[in-house]
Amino acid sequence: MYPKVRMRRLRGLKLLTESRVSVDDLILPLFIDETIAAKKPIESMPGQYRHPIEGVVKEVSEARSLGIKSVLLFGIPASKDETGTEAFNNEGVVQRAVRRIKQDIDDIVIITDLCLCEYTTHGHCGLIEDGQVLNDPTLEVLGKIAVSQAQSGADIVAPSGMMDGMVKAIRAKLDDEGFSDTAIMSYAAKYNSALYGPFREAADSGFQFGDRSSYQMAFANAREALREVELDIQEGADIVMVKPALLYLDIISKVRARFDVPLAAYSVSGEYAMLKAASEKGYLKHNDVMMEGLTAIKRAGADLIITYFAKEAAKVLKT
Ligand code: PBG
Ligand code: ZN
Repeated sequence: MYPKVRMRRLRGLKLLTESRVSVDDLILPLFIDETIAAKKPIESMPGQYRHPIEGVVKEVSEARSLGIKSVLLFGIPASKDETGTEAFNNEGVVQRAVRRIKQDIDDIVIITDLCLCEYTTHGHCGLIEDGQVLNDPTLEVLGKIAVSQAQSGADIVAPSGMMDGMVKAIRAKLDDEGFSDTAIMSYAAKYNSALYGPFREAADSGFQFGDRSSYQMAFANAREALREVELDIQEGADIVMVKPALLYLDIISKVRARFDVPLAAYSVSGEYAMLKAASEKGYLKHNDVMMEGLTAIKRAGADLIITYFAKEAAKVLKT
């Protein structure tokens, strides 16, 4: 007899769609540059800009009107130093931007990237001695940055420097200073990826010597990611993140299977740049590949997607 089960019978039924991207899942990263008066295009990320503080308010309200409910803020300070002191300046670029956004827009979840690399002259994510990134002395600085960001009104702080013990140190400091309601989204499994190239132009956070391999993970390792995530959960992370996303769907899937915590995936600058370049050349259909990629990230198990495509995807989802 001809097969009783015919998969084609139900194929294409919207009713049976297993994974959906919703605008509710999308987080838009934004770059705020203290030194500019008008928005400035980021060359390697067509469609993305550095914004001045006043301009970012407009950008957030535009995102909000498209249905986007959260933004992730990166700051480019006017001055950098060896230890990144601008990162915990209460009048710093991110702190001012958070206050300014909250003044105008109340129903937006503001996440602040918490790291040193945009604020240090050497561009590394921690304090440096003899060419080495120091783990433990960096933790104290991260705690200070967290408090300063929370004070300015950040809802969630997102430590991205891959220092051991960073979540524990930040949680303790936030609680001590009365910010027990400020959440932590930890870049728990952050790989040392060549896909961050365009971001370093965007955020002016390229390093002056060495690389990030002493603190970020090697791309060949998967079990190690599970240990990283487990530690961050034990230390008090409210949301854990895998980064990058599309080349790391196996990691997203493994983390999802093992842990019942909210999981974010960061679709990074290089993922964005690759599609922009290919679609500019006419080699790929932009919106189709964009939605396929975002859906794949959801299918792998992410609850949230940090993506530079957030506004474009929101427009597609509206129609
Ligand atoms: C720095 C940081 C990086 C990204 C987010 N935070 C780059 C890096 O580690 O060098 C990458 C984001 C992207 O590529 O979109 N802590
Ligand atoms: Zn960093």
